[in-house]
Amino acid sequence: MSEETPTSETLANLLKENRRFEPPAELAADANVKADAYDEAASDREAFWAKAADRLTWDTKWDKVLDDSKPPFFKWFTGGKLNAAYNCVDRHVENGKGDKVAIHWVGEPEDDTRDLTYADLKREVSKAANALASLGVATGDRVAIYMPMIPEAVIAMLACARIGAPHTVVFGGFSADSLASRLDDCNAKVVVTSDGGYRRGSPAALKPAVDEALTKTDVVEKVLVVRRTGQDVEWNDDKDVWWHDVVDSASEDHTPEAFDAEHPLYVMYTSGTTGKPKGILHTTGGYLTQASYTHWSVFDLKDDDVYWCTADIGWVTGHSYIVYGPLANGVTQVLYEGTPDSPERGRWWKIVQEHKVSIFYTAPTAIRSFMKQGPDVPGRFDMSSLRILGSVGEPINPEAYVWYRHVIGGDRTPVVDTWWQTETGAMMISPLPGVTAGKPGSAMKALPGIDADVVDDEGNSVPNGSGGYLVVSSPWPSMLRTIWGDDDRYVDTYWSRFKAKGFYFAGDGAKKDTDGDIWVLGRVDDVMNVSGHRLSTTEIESALVSHPCVAEAAVVGATDADTGQAVVAYVILREGVDQGEHIEKDLSDHVRKEIGPIAKPRSIMIVPELPKTRSGKIMRRLLRDVAEKRDIGDTTTLADSSIMELISAGQATSTED
Ligand code: WT7
Repeated sequence: MSEETPTSETLANLLKENRRFEPPAELAADANVKADAYDEAASDREAFWAKAADRLTWDTKWDKVLDDSKPPFFKWFTGGKLNAAYNCVDRHVENGKGDKVAIHWVGEPEDDTRDLTYADLKREVSKAANALASLGVATGDRVAIYMPMIPEAVIAMLACARIGAPHTVVFGGFSADSLASRLDDCNAKVVVTSDGGYRRGSPAALKPAVDEALTKTDVVEKVLVVRRTGQDVEWNDDKDVWWHDVVDSASEDHTPEAFDAEHPLYVMYTSGTTGKPKGILHTTGGYLTQASYTHWSVFDLKDDDVYWCTADIGWVTGHSYIVYGPLANGVTQVLYEGTPDSPERGRWWKIVQEHKVSIFYTAPTAIRSFMKQGPDVPGRFDMSSLRILGSVGEPINPEAYVWYRHVIGGDRTPVVDTWWQTETGAMMISPLPGVTAGKPGSAMKALPGIDADVVDDEGNSVPNGSGGYLVVSSPWPSMLRTIWGDDDRYVDTYWSRFKAKGFYFAGDGAKKDTDGDIWVLGRVDDVMNVSGHRLSTTEIESALVSHPCVAEAAVVGATDADTGQAVVAYVILREGVDQGEHIEKDLSDHVRKEIGPIAKPRSIMIVPELPKTRSGKIMRRLLRDVAEKRDIGDTTTLADSSIMELISAGQATSTED
């Protein structure tokens, strides 16, 4: 084995997939966006985006679509002025849609629900904007939002946008330390929080984490607290203010001011693999243009759709596809407070049934956990209202895609696998449901107006059938503008790898299949080198997941005396399957058959759970530590820290074949 010559390939293309799903005829005939959009955008990209920007309401029209005079500091729609909250709320009321439900809010305790129309939203956002102003928040000041999934979280975001105060939403699952470092980094003047929220059937406190964070930083002047659970809270009379005191009594009249297209809308922190979190800055005009255009085109949004995105507003998905994109489009959507399995495993599907959800957007990690439970749970509910399903956050394994389409979508629904990042602000690579014949596992191709490619080490486009680095080769409207307070880090992190070509490098590996369609293969940091072959984790994981006993798999490369690195796999089995006595060997043979001997795992461990970040991404770095029998590294971003103990304990007894 060790004698094999290393190849110069950037990333091997291992899996073949022949299944195709054509768009349903009716959907295709009536689609918001048809195939001609690609040509239209290719012939004049700026005109294409100008037309998309015209879907918004501007106070002052822009002078220039794209200012590319100082790359990579691009500006979009310069000279234009608009208000994001006006676009998401007021204009729908002015257009006669005041009585349309904007949010069907579903609390975790059953029967705890609230519907807000666009008129309600306008009233609440205006009051909150007035209240924030009365607390001293001025245009340009930063406001942190640390909240459960309750309507006030959305209202607070829009109130900030309305007064031009960039918000930074910190996921409610983050610790006091993480919160404090984000408050500090963006110098937040006010924090909006709540006493708590409901998680798995009981109230979970939030305010104590804010109290603790405030002992570590003194930038914050006021804390605005929503009463959600009614649980006891410590109270600091100097800083703390109840939402129901200041917002409820505030005036319902608030005139939104128009801000520059490049006015900062929000900062979203994203943890890099190393170093302190990066505050990704998004601005107003270009961001809102692409978030709303992609939401309308990729989900083929119609006026009577009921949309549900299961993300938390603490992630970028919640910003672009709960708040800004959907509300700019005047959608009716579900907002759910709790966990998928509370009070029972069918809770999500019950919500789909009750609200007749037609467009559903979730993450592969959730889909795989439902696969693990089996089809009986969703089978109890009528989900015939669903017409489009979306996926985001990780590569979706072909088998998970097919399961999603079949079990959740009843084989009627196209699945759109949408690739994008916190940094890209909105979807970049995705099928269009009325145009694209979907392939399970592929994000297919760059959306109209987006230029993406797969390139080799030198930045040259790889031929079809090969793998490489995923790059974006032209600026796009919703791109990040910088890292908050650190322009050098922005240039360095995203624009230095292919500097000569001027490409944005996203950190992901990908391949182009023989038709030229794009398959995202995960982070290049996770790539393994086995006997000189560069293998992505994704394809081997997908081969494992295609075995009927497997629900989820994570693969890492561990140092190996013969092959440089060897494949080590961690596998979660589906519930109730008869795994047989030789499951490890069966799985290993299965990978050999699906991909070839090169990808055959050196060892396979059956585990009850995998280490994941709070947003559901597998932390392969920790599994590498286990595979190489090292002390486990930094686990602070792990959602459940007990998992690593379980896995390491199991490792000691695993038999390597
Ligand atoms: C990273 C970005 C996008 C919003 C939520 C996550 C991975 C995301 C896909 C997809 C394959 C995907 C990439 C990307 N990713 N979507 N459809 N197929 N990989 O935002 O936390 O900034 O993560 O998630 O690795 O770079 P994020």
